[in-house]
Amino acid sequence: MEMSVLWSLALYFLLVCNGVHVEASNHTHRNLQSLPKEQPYRTAYHFQPLKNWMNDPNGPMYYKGVYHLFFQHNPYTPVPGNIAWGHSISYDLVNWVHLEPAISPSEPYDIYGCYSGSTTILPSGKPAILYTGVDLNNGQVQNLAMPKNASDPLLREWVKSPLNPLISPVDDIDRSDFRDPTTAWQGPDKVWRVIIGGRINAVGLAFLYQSKDFVNWTRSNKPLHSSNKTGMWECPDFYPVRINSQNGINNFAQDKFTKHVLKASFKDQDHYILGNYIPQTDNFSIEYDFMETGFDLRYDYGKFYASKTFYDSAKKRRILWGWVAESDTALDAIIKGWAGIQSFPRSIVLSANGRQLVQWPINEIEKLRTNNVSFEGKELKQGSVLEVSGITASQADVEVSFDLPNLSETESIDPNQVDPQQLCSQKGASTNNGTVGPFGLLALASKDLTEQTAVFFRIFKRDGKRVALMCSDQSHL
Ligand code: FRU
Repeated sequence: MEMSVLWSLALYFLLVCNGVHVEASNHTHRNLQSLPKEQPYRTAYHFQPLKNWMNDPNGPMYYKGVYHLFFQHNPYTPVPGNIAWGHSISYDLVNWVHLEPAISPSEPYDIYGCYSGSTTILPSGKPAILYTGVDLNNGQVQNLAMPKNASDPLLREWVKSPLNPLISPVDDIDRSDFRDPTTAWQGPDKVWRVIIGGRINAVGLAFLYQSKDFVNWTRSNKPLHSSNKTGMWECPDFYPVRINSQNGINNFAQDKFTKHVLKASFKDQDHYILGNYIPQTDNFSIEYDFMETGFDLRYDYGKFYASKTFYDSAKKRRILWGWVAESDTALDAIIKGWAGIQSFPRSIVLSANGRQLVQWPINEIEKLRTNNVSFEGKELKQGSVLEVSGITASQADVEVSFDLPNLSETESIDPNQVDPQQLCSQKGASTNNGTVGPFGLLALASKDLTEQTAVFFRIFKRDGKRVALMCSDQSHL
């Protein structure tokens, strides 16, 4: 049996079960050599600002040949506070130029923070930012900003609308849980729609608003969707995906060849559901709901939160970014001078059976590869650890194939009886023997292995077929 995985940040390979032959190739990034000794954890594949705090990705877009990434940023220190929209641009999504923040707290309606939001390309071709401002009374309101000069592909300056705030929390809306507008879309009636994350008592939901002019917004009498199992929804995302296609589509598209994805961020994870959206009625009929046993779909099971997708019209694909938070303390952040990275951008499509999304790092990742370190035919005996030398742990991109000589004893798994997520997160899951596995990688491991992130596999039999369970163990960070 052969499997390939692509993973970054590997230092050691580890095996704790049957004999396995390994073939691997590690590519280090070209800036690797310039990593200062005191900064061993700075990444190169993953997006980071030069310094200080970063959380959610905001308003990613492709505009006049340039990719833009905005992000929640404290430009002054590596801890949360003074939240502005950091702004960086790129021609290839891997090499970035850092610009001045696009919007910063300055007005009564955003003085305590320019929180998350999205960009929408208007029919005029101009982009618009919708974002949440935290106002003088600590209430959350929705605001608009437009480029000062839309003919500048770098969009360096943004002007806040004199009509802000455009949407305020009234009636039953909780003013401290009303945030993160999505990219807006127009229905066939040309009316704009946008959703905003929130909560009414214990029910998490996506408020739906409509507008004819992008400035005057009216709340719809029912939310796009809600759930009493989730708590507050942060950073909703709502977009179409094509059935049976590797291509992405823009946020306006909807026909019988599409399904819609609704993503909400809650309980430290990004969860999504699939359904059929009818723009004429704004009815979203879902296949399974959030947190439904056996169908709890997530983008990622590791650290990955407040994500956002955008349609890349240049390459006809939908790209996903997510915030990877730090595991260490604020003091550690102050010592290293920064905190937070973005996941490597992933292209995201509907699986062939239409039941879930599948993702893969965008192929531009290969541009960052230099210094190939590779080997093959290494044998890993039970309990052995193979060190990969010649690479830097925080900046490696790994392709590895494991050849498992003996699968006769593969144990069976019944997903109705055993929750794979539970199996992955059991104490000692990366070292306890199964019949085939666990085996895999130890990323960013210290010499004595007390610090490490195991990315590991176990092989099971299900309905007569072999399946691989891929897990990560973050209890030794
Ligand atoms: C998610 C979040 C958003 C909010 C932003 C503030 O991580 O809490 O809901 O807009 O971060 O930085």
